[in-house]
Amino acid sequence: MTKIKIENLHFSYTAGADILKEISLELTQESIAIIGQNGAGKSTFAKLLKGLLKPADGTIFYNKQDISKMTAAQLAKDIGMVFQNPNDQIFKSKVIDEVMFGPLNIGQLPEDARMNALTALRKAGLEHQAEQNPYDLSLSERKMIAIASILAMNTEVVIFDEPTMGQDYAGKQKLKRIITELKDEGKLVICILHDMDFAAEVFERTIIFNQGRVLLDGATEEVFMEEEILKMAFLEQPSVMKIAKKLGIGEGYLTEDELTKRLRGAFSN
Ligand SMILES: Nc1ncnc2c1ncn2[C@@H]1O[C@H](COP(=O)(O)OP(=O)(O)OP(=O)(O)O)[C@@H](O)[C@H]1O
Ligand SMILES: [Mg+2]
Repeated sequence: MTKIKIENLHFSYTAGADILKEISLELTQESIAIIGQNGAGKSTFAKLLKGLLKPADGTIFYNKQDISKMTAAQLAKDIGMVFQNPNDQIFKSKVIDEVMFGPLNIGQLPEDARMNALTALRKAGLEHQAEQNPYDLSLSERKMIAIASILAMNTEVVIFDEPTMGQDYAGKQKLKRIITELKDEGKLVICILHDMDFAAEVFERTIIFNQGRVLLDGATEEVFMEEEILKMAFLEQPSVMKIAKKLGIGEGYLTEDELTKRLRGAFSN
């Protein structure tokens, strides 16, 4: 079972200014949303998991291996990360070359890399853009290219940093399908988000970061019930929960479907 274990993690970019403090977490095969205000340390945390930054203190284990001792090649094979800004990730001048780069880099044969890249592009809804220059496409499409590049590598862990940013309803539905499929394949999916509604709808577990610390961690429904604690981190409950509360039917609703069913029941009585 894929597992990331974080023990007493501390990190700072400049000495004396801790960005992450005393983080201890176990992340296993499930879909996990990480939420927090701007500057809470979410992207920094993701970069530590991916081995791009080294802890100042504490240890991150990937299946019992200390990730700071894993080679870049091992990390690339096992842990995929989609960057917050696709322009930080994309460097090839053709979409297909960009999406094939990762698979080739971890040693897939060219024909396998091509097949995996095309499958990933199809999942991302970009199969017709394979021959285009990524920079001729929109930012939301470039985000999808960055996602396809990671999907094509078939890593055990997939980290998304703000994938919903700039995506419209159709884009979010696509993302929901991609994340659900990864979870069903038994991957560990970690997703940094600002979108409470998307988090409520898609993820089993939610972790709230506040000023470099874990403020809440648990089943998504339970975490979002903690309205007062969320307020301390300047976060709101998902819309469905807020509406249910206004209607006086309790809070335990995470998706529009759940709320609609409840309301249909109420009106048919
Ligand atoms: N390369 C860097 N050098 C110095 N400080 C940095 C660097 N990157 C981030 N920081 C600082 O670290 C803190 C956490 O940043 P981080 O990007 O991890 O936050 P975040 O939770 O991802 O925020 P956002 O929601 O805006 O993406 C911020 O105060 C930020 O200014
Ligand atoms: Mg960030």
